[in-house]
Amino acid sequence: MKRSIVICGYGNVAVELCKIISKNKNFILNQYDLELQVISVIGAQGQIFEEQGIDLELLVKCGKGSSALKEYAKVKGLNLHGKVIPKGDILVEATPTDLNSGEPGLSYSLEALNQGMDLVFASKGALVTNYKRILDKVKEKGVKLNYSGATAAALPTLDVGENCLSGSNLKSIKGILNGTTNYILSEMTLNKISFEEALEKAQRRGIAEKDPTLDISGFDSACKLVLIVNKVLNKTYDINDVHISGIDKLTNDDIRIAYENGQTIKLIAEASIFDEEISMKVGPVKVLNGKIMASVNGTNKCIIYETDEMGEIFCAGGASDPIGAGAAVLKDIINMYK
Ligand SMILES: NC(=O)c1ccc[n+]([C@@H]2O[C@H](COP(=O)([O-])OP(=O)(O)OC[C@H]3O[C@@H](n4cnc5c(N)ncnc54)[C@H](OP(=O)(O)O)[C@@H]3O)[C@@H](O)[C@H]2O)c1
Repeated sequence: MKRSIVICGYGNVAVELCKIISKNKNFILNQYDLELQVISVIGAQGQIFEEQGIDLELLVKCGKGSSALKEYAKVKGLNLHGKVIPKGDILVEATPTDLNSGEPGLSYSLEALNQGMDLVFASKGALVTNYKRILDKVKEKGVKLNYSGATAAALPTLDVGENCLSGSNLKSIKGILNGTTNYILSEMTLNKISFEEALEKAQRRGIAEKDPTLDISGFDSACKLVLIVNKVLNKTYDINDVHISGIDKLTNDDIRIAYENGQTIKLIAEASIFDEEISMKVGPVKVLNGKIMASVNGTNKCIIYETDEMGEIFCAGGASDPIGAGAAVLKDIINMYK
């Protein structure tokens, strides 16, 4: 089977995706009978388009962002096109996440949906702000939608929930879904440094953004929780349905007192399911040290699905970086056509 791909946003994740597709092209063809061809890459300043497929080996040598697209066009003697989505089979949305407007991913994905293309998101903005609108269109057009990259990247949050628990009753979904806050809390707990010192260390190591508000406020975890609940339980909740508190008010005394009582504080995202009612919250929780979540440290993340029939299913780890996110996008594409 041949599938053509249009990529929006040529940053860290898209570059890694192109590297993996280029490197594993033959393996993907032999193993999954899937021939993947990237026909267009759209950056903020325009688009490269080649109907017969972009030379990914050459593209990744050109660097990142719009400058890479311009360099590729120059080497190949192509013109840079406008930012209109060309007809392909799959749209990969990897532009920056804007949790207010959902743009530019919202417009790109709606344009692709109108053309009947399947969607794979690494970005969260469009899904968090306009989930119902996108889902309605996905159903109307009869296309596929995947977004593992937007829900904790390489950690298979959605795969486990959607595929491994079919037919079982879910009682709750709990997770440590944000690597930055888990790193800060681990540093405060294990190395006994203050919140400010731990945040500064995370920023120095490139783990936390310059503006870490979305992470430490719990908002990023809440976005991931809503997207997981919506896909696994076929709902259309939005971020306002989650009760959110962050870790910025935690002191070393809070951490120490918990530790002296055999507990470790973790930022937990949790959905409790009672028949049709689902209550969602994100906040710091004291976890007993013998419990498995207490031992998930550093930038690691995890998810626990609690079911009636299958008991608790725990999954942890997964690369928290652009390579892991690029690989998660590729996995979503392959799984769509298996
Ligand atoms: N990095 C990770 O580990 C990771 C993990 C999971 C999910 N994600 C999500 O995946 C998405 C991409 O992440 P990233 O790390 O690759 O971000 P990034 O490096 O900032 O890349 C985004 C790219 O989008 C381009 N862009 C900006 N506005 C655009 C527009 N209007 N149209 C087309 N392209 C536009 C920018 O390039 P030019 O301005 O140069 O064109 C930029 O290179 C984000 O939404 C992020 O939240 C990232």
